[in-house]
Amino acid sequence: MALVTTKEMFRKAYEGGYAIGAFNVNNMEIIQAITEAANEEKSPLILQVSAGARKYAKHNYLVKLVEAAVMETDIPIALHLDHGEDFEICKACIDGGFTSVMIDGSKHSFEDNIALTKKVVEYAHERGVVVEGELGRLAGIEDDVNVSEEDAMFTRPDEVEEFVSRTGVDSLAIAIGTSHGAYKFKPGQKPRLRFDILEEIGRRLPNFPIVLHGASSVSQEYVKIINENGGKLDDAIGIPEDMLRKAASMAVCKINIDSDLRLAFTAGIREYMANNPSHFDPRQYLTVARSNVKALVRHKLINVLGSAGKAQ
Ligand code: G3H
Ligand code: 13P
Ligand code: ZN
Repeated sequence: MALVTTKEMFRKAYEGGYAIGAFNVNNMEIIQAITEAANEEKSPLILQVSAGARKYAKHNYLVKLVEAAVMETDIPIALHLDHGEDFEICKACIDGGFTSVMIDGSKHSFEDNIALTKKVVEYAHERGVVVEGELGRLAGIEDDVNVSEEDAMFTRPDEVEEFVSRTGVDSLAIAIGTSHGAYKFKPGQKPRLRFDILEEIGRRLPNFPIVLHGASSVSQEYVKIINENGGKLDDAIGIPEDMLRKAASMAVCKINIDSDLRLAFTAGIREYMANNPSHFDPRQYLTVARSNVKALVRHKLINVLGSAGKAQ
């Protein structure tokens, strides 16, 4: 099967009340772990590449590794640019084999976001590539915003119809209280997402795929392994999995996960090296790291996203 766009997978996910996992990839082991898990679970899949990943591994290496994964598997896989910040990076990925791009104009004014997103959509659609836009801004706890500032960062439901119709985007990332990284809430703060906003957006945009960024759950099991083996991750806290299941049953069709993969990968390496301090063959600790990521992705596909078995 060749690389596909997200169109068909989102249509089925919306109808079926589940979501497609969009997992960030940076190297061969992570790509292998994710695609093997999805293939064994017969799940559609999105592999996404950030600007940082493109810089680290280089565009051609990542595209060729993903093409190899497509050859090794029998599931629909989309290759997506995560958080494209300008037209140029989107164009490079559209011209360079990606089937989906995100143009993240969320830091711009509403009008500038529309103009930039529309420009990318026009270029992408002429070449059969789909586009994710973003409205609203994800806050990090390090941003130290107060409640009224936080409210202002959430996606405004009264803007979504105009944004989607004027830009022509194929999916929309929204801000309802998630954030990137392993520290999503302040210590002692109860995790909370604005499902009322998601519901209102779903009402205003019927049958339209919504995207949830910053959706790692930050497994305390991996945090503990890292901390017990020389790491220092205090107060790391993520999005509870039942909230992600709820979002997937609503209009959310794409759930972005990166930090969870990093924790699983790093826990594997830290534990292996702590138990085998004299070993220095990278294949040994990378095998453990890869197995951890594979087990984690399998868990997400079956128990969180609900996409296992949906690739038939
Ligand atoms: O949303 C951000 C992703 O986790 C990618 O992170 O820019 O460090 O590759 P990165
Ligand atoms: P996490 O940091 O929660 O994994 O979010 C990843 C993400 O949104 C990538 O775009
Ligand atoms: Zn993101």
